[in-house]
Amino acid sequence: MSTPDIQATVDPLDEAALDAAVEQALAEIAKAADLDELKAARTAHTGDRSTLALANRAIGTLPGPDKARAGKLIGPRRGRVNKAVAARQTQLEAERDERVLVEEAVDVTLPAVRTASGARHPIESVQERIADFFVGLGWEIADGPELESEWFNFDALNFGPDHPARQMQDTFYVGGTRTAGGPQDAGAGAASSNLVLRTHTSPVQAHSMLDRGAPLYIACPGKVFRTDALDQTHTPVFHQVEGLAVDKGLTMANLVGTLDAFARAMFGPEARTRLRPSFFPFTEPSAEMDLWFPQKRGGAGWIEWGGCGMVNPNVLRTAGIDPDEYSGFAFGMGIERTLMLRHGIADMHDIVEGDVRFSTQFGTEI
Ligand code: PHE
Repeated sequence: MSTPDIQATVDPLDEAALDAAVEQALAEIAKAADLDELKAARTAHTGDRSTLALANRAIGTLPGPDKARAGKLIGPRRGRVNKAVAARQTQLEAERDERVLVEEAVDVTLPAVRTASGARHPIESVQERIADFFVGLGWEIADGPELESEWFNFDALNFGPDHPARQMQDTFYVGGTRTAGGPQDAGAGAASSNLVLRTHTSPVQAHSMLDRGAPLYIACPGKVFRTDALDQTHTPVFHQVEGLAVDKGLTMANLVGTLDAFARAMFGPEARTRLRPSFFPFTEPSAEMDLWFPQKRGGAGWIEWGGCGMVNPNVLRTAGIDPDEYSGFAFGMGIERTLMLRHGIADMHDIVEGDVRFSTQFGTEI
């Protein structure tokens, strides 16, 4: 706004007009019911375009002696208005704070609304505990696909083409049967997919050897699948942990020492293992591993826990490792079985049904 306009609207020497502006300002400031209204009043009465600000600016246009007189008229009036704004501001802020305290008050004595937070499944916790044990030994945790090629699940592990474990009753074939045109052939090309849901964690042995080479110390907990019906001791989807060590000069003594340490970590200081001769295509010699189980129903005794053996040289060779330079041992055990033994769970249904009341019994650490 240009100076002549200001002069036209506000005469800085018109005391009555200045008083009227102050009165109006004070009235509106007092009336402001909240901080927003106060802000509007402040802008209207102290802002650049307010009567008092315009009058103040117009002082510059006055002749010398009038300047001082106008200054004395306007300065204190502006001061009164500003003070009134500040006082009302303090008052309104205090009122607002008071209101917020009341509105947002929390009654800490009210009964809490409890929402069930769920629980980790004990299979998960046990797998983690197993992984912790092997990491403690300096081993690595390995992983492999659950949908596996027949080659990794069987061929790489020295299963002959007619090994009974390949039969349909044990293995979930994906996308068709092994024989094109068979009753379960899912269609063109499907029969040759050669994919299975892995029937054990042992294919991770071949993956790890191919990916990482020797020396190698890995443990792999994970899901496996077999065409078993669900009953008290079986489930078609279950878990195993695979262990594999490949290095120069490993012997059966290293296997036994590792298994005993593992048994003690899972079942306490009295636990120990024993081996009975057995057969697996991928180990030679092979053994069933039994666990000394003091809490066995009907008295302490040996309980079958898993399979193990020295890695068959054919398996090492297939995975590109020279069996004249390296030897290895491997083992695999069921995690459901481990959990059932450890906690006296009698029925597999409890483990697979997913009732949170079952899981909560185990707390967060088992
Ligand atoms: N894969 C075997 C099974 O599922 C267990 C096993 C693992 C045996 C490693 C020997 C060595 O029964």
